[in-house]
Amino acid sequence: MKNSSQTQSQENITSVMDEKRVFHPDKEFTKSANIKSMALYKKMYKESILNPEKFWGEVAGEFHWFKYWTKVKQWNPPHAKWYIGGKTNLSYNCLDRHLNTWRRNKAAIIWEGEPGETRILTYQVMFREVCKFANVLKQLGVTKGDRVAVYMGMVPELAIAILACARVGAVHTVVFGGFSAEALKDRINDAQAKLVITQDAALRRGNLVYLKPAVDKALEGTSTVENVVVYRRIPDSNISMSPGRDHWWHEIMQSVNDQNEATQVDSEHPLFILYTSGTTGKPKGILHTTAGYMVNAYLTTKTVFDLKDEDIFWCTADIGWVTGHTYVVYGPMLNGATSVMYEGAPNHPEPDRYWRIIDKYKINIFYTAPTAIRAFIRWGEQWVLKHNLSSLRLLGTVGEPINPEAWMWYHKIIGKSKCPIVDTWWQTETGSIMISPLPGITPTKPGSCTLPMFGVLPEVVDRKGKPVPAGSGGFLIIKDTWPSMLRTIYGDNQRFKKQYFGDYKGYYFTGDGARKDSDGYFWVMGRVDDVINVAGHRLGTAEIESALVSHRDVAEAAVVARPDEIKGSAIVAFVTLENTKIPSLLLKEELRNHVAQEIGHIAKPDEIRFSEGLPKTRSGKIMRRLLREIATSGTVVGDTTTLEDFSVLEKLRSDEE
Ligand code: WTA
Repeated sequence: MKNSSQTQSQENITSVMDEKRVFHPDKEFTKSANIKSMALYKKMYKESILNPEKFWGEVAGEFHWFKYWTKVKQWNPPHAKWYIGGKTNLSYNCLDRHLNTWRRNKAAIIWEGEPGETRILTYQVMFREVCKFANVLKQLGVTKGDRVAVYMGMVPELAIAILACARVGAVHTVVFGGFSAEALKDRINDAQAKLVITQDAALRRGNLVYLKPAVDKALEGTSTVENVVVYRRIPDSNISMSPGRDHWWHEIMQSVNDQNEATQVDSEHPLFILYTSGTTGKPKGILHTTAGYMVNAYLTTKTVFDLKDEDIFWCTADIGWVTGHTYVVYGPMLNGATSVMYEGAPNHPEPDRYWRIIDKYKINIFYTAPTAIRAFIRWGEQWVLKHNLSSLRLLGTVGEPINPEAWMWYHKIIGKSKCPIVDTWWQTETGSIMISPLPGITPTKPGSCTLPMFGVLPEVVDRKGKPVPAGSGGFLIIKDTWPSMLRTIYGDNQRFKKQYFGDYKGYYFTGDGARKDSDGYFWVMGRVDDVINVAGHRLGTAEIESALVSHRDVAEAAVVARPDEIKGSAIVAFVTLENTKIPSLLLKEELRNHVAQEIGHIAKPDEIRFSEGLPKTRSGKIMRRLLREIATSGTVVGDTTTLEDFSVLEKLRSDEE
């Protein structure tokens, strides 16, 4: 498996990288940057590696601690502990800490609903709402360590809900509102959640996406949930409430007071679980803990986004993904910044919605995904040119490698050739940005995420874990712990060890293929395992396969990615039907919808191909590489000597016509 993937990442590399094209920082930007010189970055980086006690101790010293730590870092691979012995609270550091300063009246969140309404919540207002909701949690019997599932659209109440969980020491698990009832059920069961927080319906492209009915369905297959809190987004949504179990947000918030003292939690107290795709059918509950995550989220937001008090920062990610956790809510609020939150689609009512929002609120820092940029390119620059984007001073990308063409368009059309672009590489598991330029300092090369952040020791290695020479492709690993590192997979420490530390002893394996150039710049090429990035969303092929085989007509399925101009990857499923079943267009559609129902619309295969058999090795392993080649170019060029039945290939090809 790794063998073929490595070849694949090596092939990709030459086609996209252009080491010579370098964009140097603008001098004006550098002058007022938070970190003003390459020399300073290097000095800080060195200290973060050689003297972590001092470096990370100083950063953490900016926060409120109920009790100081006795030791900053303890690394017994694969187990990390940070700020040992300390007691703190993330919600306190996001809110209470700002109340004795002028930031009390500063906007914490500027929210725009898809229909166009605006809500501005100051730090004082957020504090009050979070305290009240923390009391709601207490009233419903949620205490320290309990898990709370949050299944909502992009409304400020989602931020209030998770900050309130952190306040009482409950562990939130946010489930993206685009996931199905089935996916929600699995996550609730895995986390053994006691409470679900949801809303009646969310708005997306002018349509209502009913969330509460999905919760009702999910709860038919769960036994741990005692209460459901429902935020009303739609005035006349007609949803049913189960007496005793379900509570309207606006009603239950009236029954509590607005005083709530933040619970003191240990540094390593669990903060959240976020489910993400892995190489088996079962999503992994990535567990993050309190203090290390807090410090890393704070520092990366401040340095990578060069955050200033007067900035308005917009990260377009949904809070259902890690990017939304760290750069819509926690990172900005730890910095006392103003974070913009938009509820809906980028092309509603027209394809200029994002540019309209930037112009309306005079946004300074804009952080989005390459897949969105490619969609903007397709929609046309006329939508951009209608608006004044002169407030922008910094742009960022995340989620997948950015192709240099999209980078150039972003640079010229959105950034008017004056805004630095930070291409930030990180993962749900890493909690915060790991490799990224620092704006105003790092010369950028389109397609490269450049240099490591403080405390991060990445390396590109071969299959044996040996560093490869500059310019060669290999596997991206991280050599040491960093504060916001995942601590385990919730409830499955064995899987955690095997998945991340099984291949390169003592090193964290990212699952990505990469290359380091002669300047030490990293070029991340994408996944080398069975995880695919579809429109910036991470999906496991095994998850989609198990959804397909759960359909009564399907005997076997194999899912691969095919490059896609907009989405990065498209999903192609090869399906073998049960003996008596007849392939048909109708069945293809039924299977696509079945996957949407099992996981969510994001996982719907773009293409389904029926085949009588799948190419397998003699030991019975599906040869995905061959399927990838067939899905992409229609032919197979690589080695097929281990193939068990050659006639399968012929049959697969003939299904194309
Ligand atoms: C990919 C999102 C190239 C990568 C924060 C990683 C990237 C996966 C970049 C994690 C980037 C993220 N350049 N690839 N700047 N950022 N990736 O967990 O494959 O949803 O392993 O976290 O996205 O996706 P996740």
